[in-house]
Amino acid sequence: MTFTEAAVVGLGTMGAGIAEVLTRTGLQVTAVEVNTDLLEAGRGRVATSLQRAQDRGRLSAEDRALIDERLRFTADRADLSSVDLVVEAVPERLDVKAALFAELESVCKPEAVFATNTSSLSVTAIAAATSRPNRVVGMHFFNPAPVMQVVEIVATVLADDAVVNGVRELADRCGKTPVVVADRAGFIANALLLPYLNDAARHVETGRGTVESVDAAMRERAGFPMGPLALMDLIGLDVCLPILDVLWDEFRDPRYAATPLLRRLVVAGRLGRKTGRGWYRYDSGEPVGDVPAPVRVGKPDADALLSAHLADAVRMAGDGYATEDDIDTAMRLGCGYPRGPFAMLAE
Ligand SMILES: NC(=O)c1ccc[n+]([C@@H]2O[C@H](COP(=O)([O-])OP(=O)(O)OC[C@H]3O[C@@H](n4cnc5c(N)ncnc54)[C@H](O)[C@@H]3O)[C@@H](O)[C@H]2O)c1
Repeated sequence: MTFTEAAVVGLGTMGAGIAEVLTRTGLQVTAVEVNTDLLEAGRGRVATSLQRAQDRGRLSAEDRALIDERLRFTADRADLSSVDLVVEAVPERLDVKAALFAELESVCKPEAVFATNTSSLSVTAIAAATSRPNRVVGMHFFNPAPVMQVVEIVATVLADDAVVNGVRELADRCGKTPVVVADRAGFIANALLLPYLNDAARHVETGRGTVESVDAAMRERAGFPMGPLALMDLIGLDVCLPILDVLWDEFRDPRYAATPLLRRLVVAGRLGRKTGRGWYRYDSGEPVGDVPAPVRVGKPDADALLSAHLADAVRMAGDGYATEDDIDTAMRLGCGYPRGPFAMLAE
């Protein structure tokens, strides 16, 4: 299966980056937005990113000219009749994604593949709402798409192997490292990362450590570049909470039940770095831990946090959900771990 012509629908944070990646790989790309105003905003996002690459010497003027030739912008979905692949990056709502694919079914060729960039919705539910469920897969890029190396390829029980392999090969052609994962909440990276972050938050909430001491303990114990609470602040507490809720809904495992303090911080609008306050406050140079101290504060148990995290990875591989190698790759390239969980266990 070779893809030569693609469409990217939705040119926000992710779609603009994905359109850039596919065009730089040599595909003819049609970039789609809802109306001409949003289309201009999307065009601007792609242009800014390409200009940055040119300024930094990572893109030559000749290659830029070729990209400009291969990339066209439209607000008219009728223009997608000849594409081999559609990657959607519209808002994270099943009804929006299902309505988009329903409309595209009557526009695109019957053999065109539909890929969704969803982070937390069921790819199976998106596929089952179409009349070509065997040609629908997840293609989960990380943010920012032109920079992050890993792409999670989500294979549902309905997808043809040839389609999954074709999309994986395309990610390869894009210079990315694809990992293949079954369609379960959180795929690989979020399904492993979020329970660990939640566990660390619970540690703070129950007085087993302060924000700073838990972060320091995990940096030292696991060699992670960033502690779990600082990482949550970077991702955004409002992004973490719904992913935990999706994991909880699917598995009903207490590890996935968002710790109450996390939920309260989100209600309070303390979403992390983007609001200046989350687990830390960021208004006075060095970030300072910023949650009420429990009556008694103990010493963080970094071994317990790490071993529960690694046990999740072992369970994921044992369930046949993804290979050990793909789990290690997703955690290294998607979450910045120096070594994946299985490499850590092998030490
Ligand atoms: N932001 C991230 O870090 C991230 C990372 C990985 C995956 N995702 C996923 O990618 C998807 C998009 O997220 P985002 O952060 O880029 O959102 P965004 O809000 O930045 O962009 C969504 C874009 O879709 C456009 N849009 C909405 N409805 C449309 C339609 N019917 N047709 C065409 N365009 C439409 C909007 O105008 C907007 O520009 C979501 O499914 C999200 O879960 C996001």
